[in-house]
Amino acid sequence: MHSANDSLSWLNLTRLSLPVRVLFTGYLMAIGAGLMMAGLQILLTHGMADGKLGLSVDDIVYSYYGNRTGSKLESKLNGSMKDKAPPEERLEIIKWARNGASKEEWDARIGQIMQQRCAMCHANIPSLHDVSKYEVAAKLAEVDEGATVSQLTRVSHIHLFGIAFIFMFVGFIFSFAVGFSKWVKVVLIFTPFAFLVLDIASWWLTKMNPAFAWLTIIGGAAYTLASTIMILTSLWQMWIMPWKGQYRDCNAWSGECDH
Ligand code: HEC
Repeated sequence: MHSANDSLSWLNLTRLSLPVRVLFTGYLMAIGAGLMMAGLQILLTHGMADGKLGLSVDDIVYSYYGNRTGSKLESKLNGSMKDKAPPEERLEIIKWARNGASKEEWDARIGQIMQQRCAMCHANIPSLHDVSKYEVAAKLAEVDEGATVSQLTRVSHIHLFGIAFIFMFVGFIFSFAVGFSKWVKVVLIFTPFAFLVLDIASWWLTKMNPAFAWLTIIGGAAYTLASTIMILTSLWQMWIMPWKGQYRDCNAWSGECDH
C-alpha cells in the first residue's frame, strides 16, 4: 500500500480545511436537530394513536390499517353511550351503521331516534358531534380504515425525496471518515437508503395487513441508528481528532490509513 504518498491522502475528515469543516458541521447540526424534532413529532402523532404515550406496534396499526373492528358510532353505543337509548333502538342504529348508513333509513327511522335520544346533548353541547344531523352521524358510522391511499402517496413521495437528500449529504461527509474498512463504510452509507425504502413500503403493507407494522419500527430504528453513527463519527473526526493532533493519511481508494 502506498497510502502516505497517495496524492489524495490528505482527503479525510481529520485534515479538512476550517471552512469546509464549518460547512459540514453546520449541515450536520441542522440535520441532527431535525432528526430529533422528527422523532418527537412521531411520538406526538403516531405515538398517541392508540391513546397511550410512546410508540408501539398498535400505534402503527391504528395509523395505517385503522381500527376496523367497527365505527366510532358503534363503539360509543357499546361504550359510554350505552345507556342513552333502549337496547332495541341502539341495535337499530348499529345495524344502520353497519349497512352503510343510508339516507333512506335515516329519514324513515334512525333520524327520529337520534333526535329523541341524542339531540338534547349532542345538538346543544358545542364540543360534541351533532349526531342528530345525517352527515355527522354518517361520518361517525364509517369504519376507520387508517391512512387513505392519497394520503400515503403524498407522504411517501415527500419522504423519499426529502430524506434521500439528507442521507446523501450525511453519507457524503462520512465517506471521508478514517478508521473504517471500505466495506463497513459501504454498509453504513447504504443502510439508511435501504431502510428508507423498506420503511415506506411497510406503510403500504401495513395498510393491507397489520402484521407488517413491526417492519415500520425496524426500518425507522435502523436508519436512525446508521445516520446517528455517521453524524457523531464525522463530528468527532473533524474536531476532536485534529484537536488531539491525531491527523491521518489514508489511501483514497482502499480507505486504509496510517497508524
Ligand atoms: C346526556 C348527554 C348525552 C346523550 C343523551 C348522548 N350523548 Fe353521546 N356523548 C355525550 C358526551 C358528554 C360525550 C363525550 C364523552 C364521551 O365520549 O363519552 C359523547 C360522545 C359521543 C360520541 C363520540 C363522538 C363525540 O361527539 O365526541 C358519539 C358517537 C356519541 N356520543 C353518540 C351518541 C348517540 C348515538 C346518542 C343517542 C343514542 C348519544 N350519544 C346520546 C353526551 C351524550
